[in-house]
Parts: sequence; structure tokens; C-alpha cells
Amino acid sequence: MSKNILTTSSGTPVTDDNNSISAGARGPLTFDNHYVFEKLAHFNRERIPERVVHARGTGAYGIFEVTKSLEEFTIANFLQNVGQKTDVFVRFSTVGGGQDSSDYARDPRGFAIKFYTEQGNFDLVGNNTPVFFLNDPSKFPDFIHSQKKNPQTNLPDPAQSYEFWANHPQSLHQITILMSDRGIPYSYRHMHGFSSHTLSFWNAKGERFWAKWHVKTNQGVKNLTNDEAAKMPPFGAQQDLVDAIERGEHPSWSVKVQIMSEAQAKDYAINPFDLTKIWPHSDFPLIEIGQLELNRNVENYFAETEQAAFAPSNLVPGVGASPDKMLQARLMAYQDAHRYRVGVNVNQIPVNAPKCPVHHYQRDGAMAGMCPAHGGPTIQDSGVNFYPNDRAEQGAPTPASQLVAPPLPLLEDAWVKAYDQSEEDYYTQAGNLFRLMNKDQKQQLAHNIAEGLGQANSSIQGRMLAQFSKADPEYASLVQAEMSRLG
Ligand code: HEM
Repeated sequence: MSKNILTTSSGTPVTDDNNSISAGARGPLTFDNHYVFEKLAHFNRERIPERVVHARGTGAYGIFEVTKSLEEFTIANFLQNVGQKTDVFVRFSTVGGGQDSSDYARDPRGFAIKFYTEQGNFDLVGNNTPVFFLNDPSKFPDFIHSQKKNPQTNLPDPAQSYEFWANHPQSLHQITILMSDRGIPYSYRHMHGFSSHTLSFWNAKGERFWAKWHVKTNQGVKNLTNDEAAKMPPFGAQQDLVDAIERGEHPSWSVKVQIMSEAQAKDYAINPFDLTKIWPHSDFPLIEIGQLELNRNVENYFAETEQAAFAPSNLVPGVGASPDKMLQARLMAYQDAHRYRVGVNVNQIPVNAPKCPVHHYQRDGAMAGMCPAHGGPTIQDSGVNFYPNDRAEQGAPTPASQLVAPPLPLLEDAWVKAYDQSEEDYYTQAGNLFRLMNKDQKQQLAHNIAEGLGQANSSIQGRMLAQFSKADPEYASLVQAEMSRLG
């Protein structure tokens, strides 16, 4: 006999879960079928909106361990002592496809890490590429529309992707990565992660440093060609991660940072806040600071992975933003998305709830829980709900003014003006990457581009070839030759 009794969601024992109550064996249902109605009504509400981007993903828990103290650069509590461990939740994703799309699209991969630190959650919401297609957030919705399905046919439309890119030379560096042999990772375990953005650190002296994060796979980088990817099972990357963790083969990454002082930033030839650019390692070497390991699968995919809410605005004392325009917009966009997709009390859901005490004066809203002292999962207690108040002695929370961030320096005068960036050099770094490739890699790049670009009209082709040529004339001629070959 089963130890557990089937109940309604309010805990009442259910006596029959196969038959509805009806007026006779052949008759209609009666109005007292409230259990059946509850079941059907809950079923109707099982879905929440999928993420507008990065909808297809998989997550796991793990540990981040410090191997080098960053005390010199940051007061961040979780980066102070060698051996210090912080729990993490990581979600990997593709970008453009829906929740049930293939894991093997030629697409960047999301690599989002939630560090549950003692001073709140720090979310590093990065990708597997060190740069991005854009450096101005006003273009983000246009860009995503151009990569997703055609609005009329609801089918993939490579020509419209290239139509966007032909008008945006700023995307060239990221296109060169995406279309290269690194464009389709073999698995989530075999790829790197990057903050891509420049973030910042500040130390106890109030000095600010600019920092880029690199999360380097210890499994080695492995990729697939288009043909190999086409033969993979659609959800193979998810399966690979879940199975590896289940087998006890815990994937790990070496976490590194590049650090630039404010003084260096002022004179540096490359705009350090342009998300389409890397900082060459020869100028800013990688400093290893820790190890990241994933060691536990989720128990409930929906509750944990689907409701996980990563936000670039989840920063902790000692880790800050930078003037990167894209990052600035992301500081707003994610919390907004979470309120829409999950709800205003999204941070009370266990996967998102900080593991440190949380005290604030926000109240109520859909699905509000109680503070742990009252048996709820987190956050809203029954004490005073306004600030300032006279009850600090009784435990009412007060701001920690000693943790205030130093000012974010403005390199130029703040001025309400749209800064035209069309004259930026978007070609040198794309060309440098092309020149690093061997013959076979160059050929793969040209082939992958030609497959899509060949479907665009001649004006788009011409503008793309002009971009490739500015990066490296050989880049353009290889793509041109491959388009002719494919006809
Ligand atoms: C202005 C630029 C951008 C905007 C407005 C934007 C917006 C969004 C939105 C609305 C989501 C869905 C969030 C959710 O529903 O939980 C999302 C997810 C995501 N974005 Fe962005 N994004 C931008 C740029 C970037 C960049 C540059 C990166 C990487 C460097 C990135 C990485 C991610 C990742 C990894 C996720 C999935 C997080 C998860 O696993 O839940 N995004 N983005």
C-alpha cells in the first residue's frame, strides 16, 4: 500500500482520480466535481512565457572555489580567501530558438552563473563568446528579430539575418566567431564562457578597476561542423550535461579575469567599453582566480531551470558595472523580463533566493512569501514596512553606507547626444581573428557564411563582401569563391 495519500492542492484526500462524478454512468457531470475542475484549471496555467531570447536551456548547481585572492582589486566578499567556496547555479542556453529547438544551432551559447554570495547574488550573465554583435542596446530588438523566424512564414530566413548585418559592420567580429569552426559547440561542457562586457571591481581604498571575466573549460574545446550537428539528437547537449553530472563526471572551468586600471583605460587605443572588441591578452594577461565545478542536477526542471532569473544588475559590493552602453541597458532589461515572465516576487523562488539574510521594505505582490522566521521561503516579514523609521534597535534594516561604490568615472562630459559610432574600426579585430585561423578553419568560415549569404540579394552580398574585405582581402575572396562554388 502507498505511504502517501493523493490529495487536492489544499491537502484534502482524493477518493477517486479516475472517474468524474456524473449523473449516472451515462450522464453529464455534476457541479460538485471541484477536484476535476481544480485539476483542469491548474493544467491550463502550467505555462509561463518562455524567455524572449535564450529560451532553450539547461541548468545545474555547483561550487566556485577561489584559488587566488582578489583582495588587491575588490572588497567582494566571495573573492577574498584562497579555498573559499561559493554555491552557484549555472544555466546554459542557445539564443534564437524556442524552448524545444535544437541544442545544435549555429548560435552563441548563453553561460549564466549565479553566485550565491554572503552579500547577495552576483549574476555573471555571459555568453560563450568574448564579444557581441552590437555595442548599442537600441539595436537589440531589431537584431533579434532579424535572427529569429521570418514574421510572415515563421520559417528560418538567413537572408534577413544578413540584411541586418550588411547594415551593421559592428557585428563583423562576432559574425566571424559565429561562422567559424567554433560556431557550434559539441556540448556545454566543452566551451568557454565570458562576461563579454567590461565590469568593474573596487577595493577597500575606493580604487576602481575595469575587469573582463573568462571562464575556460577544463574539458577542452570541442565543436561540430554543420554536417555533424545535423546528425545530433535535438536535445543532446542537455542530455550530455545531465548524464555527465549523474555519472559523477563533474565538468569544471578555470575562472580568470583581465584587469585594467582607470588610468590605462583613459589612454588605451581600444574603447574598453565597446562590446564588439576584446582586450588582447598580450596587453592584459589573464589572471586565474578560481575553479568552477558543476556537481548536482536540478530536481525539477520547471521550478529551478525555467524559473531561474539571472540579472546583470545582480551585483555585490566590490563588483560593479561599467559605462558599456549594452551593459547599462541590460541592468534594466532583465529584471523587467523577470517581472513579466515569472512575477514581481521572482527572488523568493528558491533557485533565485539569496542564501544570505534578506531584509527590505518591499511588500506584497503576487505570490508573496513570508520570512523564514515565519515559516515562509523568504523575505517579507511582519515588522515595519517603511523607511526611515525609529526601529533600528529592534532589527529594522538600515542601509550599509560603508559599502558605497566609488563614483563611476565619466571619460567624457555627460551630454545628452546620440553618439554616432559608424566610424569605429570594426575590422581590425575581425581580421586579426581571421589571420589566426589555419587554412581549413578559413575554409569552414567561408563555407558557413556562403551558405546563408548566398540566399541574400546582390546588394546585401556586396555590402557584406566589402566588410570582409576591410577585415582581410583574403576573407572576402574566400567567401566570394565559396558562394560561386555553391551556386
Ligand atoms: C541590450 C542588450 C541585451 C538585452 C536587452 C538582452 C535581453 C535579454 C532578455 C530580456 C533575456 C531573457 C531574460 C529572462 O527572461 O529571464 C535575456 C537572456 C539572456 N541574455 Fe541577454 N540581452 C542583451 C544582451 C546580452 C549579451 C551581450 C549577453 C552576453 C554577453 C546576453 C546573455 C544572455 C543570457 C546568457 C541569457 C539567458 C539567461 C538565463 O539563462 O536565464 N544578453 N537577454
